[in-house]
Amino acid sequence: MTGLDGFVVSKGIEVQLWRSDWGMADHSVSILDGDLVLNGDHLVPGRWLRDHGDDSASLNPQSKQRLVDTFSIDRGVMAVAVAVDGGWLDVEWNDGGRTGHDLDSLLHVVAARRLPMLRESLGFTVPGAVQLWSEPPEPHWFSVRVLDDDSAWVEALAHLRTHGWLALDGAALGEEATRKLASRVGYPRNSIFGGVWEMNSGAAEHMDSAYETFALDVHTDGTYSHDAPGTIIFAQQKRTGEGGDSVLVDGFAAARDFQLANPEAADLLTRFAIRAHYVEPGVHLVAERPPLRVDANGTLIQLSFNNYDRSALLPEGGLVDDVIDAYNGFRAVFSDPARALHHVWEPGRLLVFDNWRCLHGRTFFTGDRGFVGCYTNHEDLEGAYRVAALG
Ligand SMILES: [Fe+2]
Repeated sequence: MTGLDGFVVSKGIEVQLWRSDWGMADHSVSILDGDLVLNGDHLVPGRWLRDHGDDSASLNPQSKQRLVDTFSIDRGVMAVAVAVDGGWLDVEWNDGGRTGHDLDSLLHVVAARRLPMLRESLGFTVPGAVQLWSEPPEPHWFSVRVLDDDSAWVEALAHLRTHGWLALDGAALGEEATRKLASRVGYPRNSIFGGVWEMNSGAAEHMDSAYETFALDVHTDGTYSHDAPGTIIFAQQKRTGEGGDSVLVDGFAAARDFQLANPEAADLLTRFAIRAHYVEPGVHLVAERPPLRVDANGTLIQLSFNNYDRSALLPEGGLVDDVIDAYNGFRAVFSDPARALHHVWEPGRLLVFDNWRCLHGRTFFTGDRGFVGCYTNHEDLEGAYRVAALG
């Protein structure tokens, strides 16, 4: 990478040059109507670029999790000034913000612009045999004793099947209840977090926002995994402060409602793959799939949405606004607080939910908070339903 090679003025537009590691050729960047132009002909929409800074205010330097509030970016945001220093681009925006961008990375993203996948049918149907909820049902806590009683367990499993979540109360502290619950819906799945893991606030065993204390937007886990966890189990071990409720949203109900209101946008989310990543020392996972994944029959089978872990992926030119509007529009539906089911935690309580259907988040909390948790696979959950004649 060489330093700033110089400025030229072309047709009244200030053009800045850099030399890329990609090749020895000089590249140029300029502004046109608030968007950026790379090498004279690659238009990078300002609205998209504002959301994809590589600077430390936009992206956590260690975990590469996103820090930008994607959903507050103005639709008409415009770049007003650019400066190139080596392979680094600084952009000043008309909303007062500034972002920095690695120009080589940006070139790669621009070269890999994406089209939606082709599908024969439009939209999706939601699975039968489930009871979608757009408003939170009353939290219901089964006794942990259902884990030791086959017929009582079928009733509890039916609740998980129908509603997408199941809460248990009265467990002894430690891993045993989590392992027992996992064995009822499959088995603990090994991942970068281990099999059955402990998650303590402030401990930062992993570079993930789950270990912080701030409120977490609702999301699904494992968007960076080709096979995202089928269920997530949490069992609270310790709680000293206030807050920290688990928040659950029925993602399938939100998808249904979004499709009713905006069928074209919902259909686009079944066809445009979103990429996600997980980065920590020695780990770099990447996967991609549409936020609304449908099977060959057009049935919605999996929801994937985690804005913290989303990677930079640029839609083909004419689709940029459509994809952003669809993504933001769906998020506006499922993040409506009126949909949120709050589970208040106490040590001895467990929660298992379908990570392919329900989004989960967390309210802000104070004090210490400790959990045991694990993931299980979705095919095992489906198998448990079949075995119990709930399939
Ligand atoms: Fe999570």
